[in-house]
Amino acid sequence: MKKLIIAIDGPAGAGKSTVARLVAERLGYTYIDTGAMYRAVTWDTMRRGIPAENAEKVAAVARAINLHLATVAGKTLVKVDDTDITDAIRTPEVSRQVAEISKNGGVREAMVHLQRQMAGLGGVVMDGRDIGTHVLPGADIKIFLTASIAERALRRWRELTDKGLAVDLAELRAEIACRDKADCEREIAPLVQAADAALVDTTDLTIPQAVEKILELCEART
Ligand code: C5P
Repeated sequence: MKKLIIAIDGPAGAGKSTVARLVAERLGYTYIDTGAMYRAVTWDTMRRGIPAENAEKVAAVARAINLHLATVAGKTLVKVDDTDITDAIRTPEVSRQVAEISKNGGVREAMVHLQRQMAGLGGVVMDGRDIGTHVLPGADIKIFLTASIAERALRRWRELTDKGLAVDLAELRAEIACRDKADCEREIAPLVQAADAALVDTTDLTIPQAVEKILELCEART
């Protein structure tokens, strides 16, 4: 059977990572979380004390980063060199800074280069903001996964609260709205639904329902 390239894009908190990982699992494909890559670069600039405004130094960090992604027991493990940053890249501090770092053209160029290499010959599910429009425009299946802002904020709140982090729902909603705005309005590869992407609104869908919907679309293509 043909090994597909599946691109899943959408705003923060729409359930992309969970749904994409499960779709990959069901198909025996590799899952690539490109948000984790931008988060890792952000983490690396923060630990080095490089401000987002220093475009050249930020881009140099992205070009030099020694990044490893692996899906283990339903989780994307992220390492920079030998340091496990799986949890460190999900903190509110990194979430607040990541959209700013992701605007940097040099950062995007370095990440897109890695992402295209990772997609290889297929058998991948890649999620992000610009996968169907820019990174893999020839993808076999393109999904734009979204949900209402209220639902997305609530999901993030539950996720962080479950991890024992004290977060305020209204603040979280404002942060997500701010990140969406930055992602949609940036000059390079903004978040936009590709003309040939299928819209999947998960506001009233469970995770298994969203997964099934995407698998049905994949079946039609194999
Ligand atoms: O998917 P996640 O919410 O972890 O992504 C974090 C951030 O990384 C996004 O808000 C966006 O600024 C950036 N990103 C991007 N392009 C991608 C994936 C993520 O700019 N393909």
